[in-house]
Amino acid sequence: MRLLSGIQPSGKLHLGNYFGMMKPAIELQDKGDAFLFIANYHALTSVTDPDQLRQDTLDVALDFLACGLDPERSVLYRQSDVPQVVELSWLLSTVTPMGLLERCHSYKDKIAKGIAASHALFAYPVLMAADILFCHSTHVPVGRDQKQHVEVTRDIAIKFNNQYGEVFTIPEPVIRDDVAVVPGIDGQKMSKSYNNHLEMFGDEKELRARVMRIVTDSKALEDPKEPESCNVLALYSLFATDEQKEEMAANYRNGGYGYGTAKKALFELVQDFFAPFRKKREELADDLSYVESVLRAGADKAGAEADKTLRIARKAVGID
Ligand code: ADP
Ligand code: TRP
Repeated sequence: MRLLSGIQPSGKLHLGNYFGMMKPAIELQDKGDAFLFIANYHALTSVTDPDQLRQDTLDVALDFLACGLDPERSVLYRQSDVPQVVELSWLLSTVTPMGLLERCHSYKDKIAKGIAASHALFAYPVLMAADILFCHSTHVPVGRDQKQHVEVTRDIAIKFNNQYGEVFTIPEPVIRDDVAVVPGIDGQKMSKSYNNHLEMFGDEKELRARVMRIVTDSKALEDPKEPESCNVLALYSLFATDEQKEEMAANYRNGGYGYGTAKKALFELVQDFFAPFRKKREELADDLSYVESVLRAGADKAGAEADKTLRIARKAVGID
């Protein structure tokens, strides 16, 4: 089993990124070799400030290492350090039907949000296919919103293989059903672009203020409340033990338990959960040459795989 996943350096990471992608990816490193990368070519579809992109790229590397990515077992690299994926994406694009890309929700959603409809935004899933296929990954852990892109990758790989012979391994998405969509403070999907997110390593005061703003219904303190539909409990459940979850749900049902108290409990659990990661992150930030050496070693390993696959794919299409 070879797993691969990537994340765009397009802002500070939040709880949705952590539970939807980072945590499952880090856990899977126990089960097989893992390739994890920082998708800075992809981020160029929305980030236009070069300094911002550099800073966010480094931040994602720190986040991954702080949260338990083990560079002895896993390969961590910057996408742009393996530029072979861009050539591979061209080869793949020649077998990619327009209709396949036109159907992608993510493209339509981004246009609807006002991002300019560039060629890169439209071709985004083809580069993603190259990211996934160059190292013959078998499993791709992502949040539910990225599932369609992994399906597109499968379609492209199958088409290429049908046309040119068995060059690529067909990968599978790995979606964690229990945390498929982490809600934001307004109850919609947590996303930095909706500004409803809770940062993993943000400022404590800011986190507290945002937790206190989580949207709930307007039931009074003494009223019984519905655990099933509460955003605070949904977020709390990501961190809590089964007993803690049950206790909060029972408190809600009984009444006399306010949302403010629940929010405080959530804030404390989030802080406690990330405290050891935060400490590790501070240590890493003081040793950036170590972080750079990890990224260089990752790029060397990923680059060697990419060279191998590209040689085969070039030969298959007749440009060797
Ligand atoms: P954002 O929506 O904040 O821009 P990205 O689209 O960059 O986040 O997502 C990076 C990774 O984190 C992807 O694998 C995505 O599926 C996952 N992810 C993002 N938000 C959530 C969420 N609310 N719940 C679960 N997974 C998420
Ligand atoms: N598109 C993914 C996102 O926005 C990031 C990404 C790029 C990715 N290439 C990938 C994820 C390959 C998994 C595999 O989150």
